[in-house]
Amino acid sequence: MISDRKLEHLLLCTHSDVEYHKKTGFKDVELVHKALPEVNQEEIDLSTSLLGKELDAPLIITAITGGHPASEIVNQKLARAAGKLNIGLGLGSQRAAVENPELESTYTIARQEAPEALIIGNIGAPQMELSSRAAEMMDLDALAIHLNPLQEAIQPEGDVDSRGYLENIQETVKNTSIPVIAKETGAGISGNDAQLLETAGIKAIDVAGAGGTSWAAVETHRSQDKSMGELYWDWGITTAASTVEVSQSVEIPVISSGGIRNGLEAVKALALGADVVGMALPVLKASYQGEEILQDFFHNFINQMKVAMFLVGASNLEELQNTDLVIQGKTREWLQERGYDTKIYARRSSL
Ligand code: FNR
Repeated sequence: MISDRKLEHLLLCTHSDVEYHKKTGFKDVELVHKALPEVNQEEIDLSTSLLGKELDAPLIITAITGGHPASEIVNQKLARAAGKLNIGLGLGSQRAAVENPELESTYTIARQEAPEALIIGNIGAPQMELSSRAAEMMDLDALAIHLNPLQEAIQPEGDVDSRGYLENIQETVKNTSIPVIAKETGAGISGNDAQLLETAGIKAIDVAGAGGTSWAAVETHRSQDKSMGELYWDWGITTAASTVEVSQSVEIPVISSGGIRNGLEAVKALALGADVVGMALPVLKASYQGEEILQDFFHNFINQMKVAMFLVGASNLEELQNTDLVIQGKTREWLQERGYDTKIYARRSSL
C-alpha cells in the first residue's frame, strides 16, 4: 500500500498541478547590482561542504523517492547526476523498505551509482522509531527526518497525533550513528521551531518552504472530497521568509528549498543566509526527460548562479553571504512583524 502510494505521488507530481499558487517570496528579494564587480565570472568558485562532505556546488536534490519498483530507475538517474556533478542527493522515505526489505534496492542503487556523493536517508516524523534501521540500511552520510503535518492533516489516512515528536527527535539523534537533519516538505520552518530542533541535537535544517510543491495540493488530487486540500493549498511560511527566520535563529547549516526553480533564486537564498539550496520537483521532471536533459538542467542552473554572483561581485559563497540585498513587499512585512531584522542585509558589504 505504501509502495503504491509512492508511485501515485511520482505520477501526480509529474503530471498534475501540485505547486503553490502563492509564491516563494524571492521576487521580494533584490540583490544590489554592482557596476564594478571586480570578479572574473569564469573563476567563480561554488564549492562548499556540508556535514563533512565536499560539494562542487551548494546544491542538493532533496528527498523524492524509493520504495516502489518504478522508483529504482529514478534514484539511479538522480544518483548518476549527483555523482557526476558532486552535489548532494536525498532519498525518499525509507519506511517502505524497512517494512519490506525486498524494496531496499530501490534506495541502495543510489550508493552504487554515486559512491562518493553526499547521500541523505529519509524517514517521516510519524515513523521515527524506524530511524536506526533506515540509517543502517546502507552507507548514508546523514538521515533526514521529514516533518509533514500539513500532508498528515489533509490526507484521509493521516497521522494527526504529533505529541512527543521533539522528545523523539532528541532520542533519535542520540541513537543514530550518523548526523540527523530535520526537513519540512514544503510548508516551511519558523525560527522558533528551528531553535527547538537545534537544541534537540539536529545537525542541519532544510526549511522546505512554501512556494513549490504543495502536499496539500498533492493530497487534493488523491481525495474524493477536495474541499480541505483546496482550502489549505497555500498554507505555509514562504521559502524566502523561512530561510531568513531559520538562518537568523540557528548556528547549524541551513538548506533553503521549496519552489527554487532557477539559479538566480538559489543565489538569493544563499545571500539570505542559507548554506546550501535544494530542489525536488524540477529535478524529478528533468530526470523523466533523460539523463542528458537532467545534466543540462544542472549545468544551466549553475551558469545562472554564476551570472548572479558575477553581477554582485561575489567570487565565492563566503563573499556572497556578505553581499547587499534589499527585502521588499510582503516578505519584508512578514519578517518585520515577526521581529526579524531586514535591514542587516541592505548595506552589509560596507560594514
Ligand atoms: C517529495 N518530498 C519528500 N520529502 C521527504 O522528506 N520525503 C519524501 O519521501 C518525499 N517524497 C517526495 C516525492 C515527490 C514526488 C516530490 C515532488 C517531493 C518533498 C521534497 O523533498 C521537497 O521538500 C518539496 O517537494 C519542496 O521542494 P520543491 O519540489 O518545491 O523543489
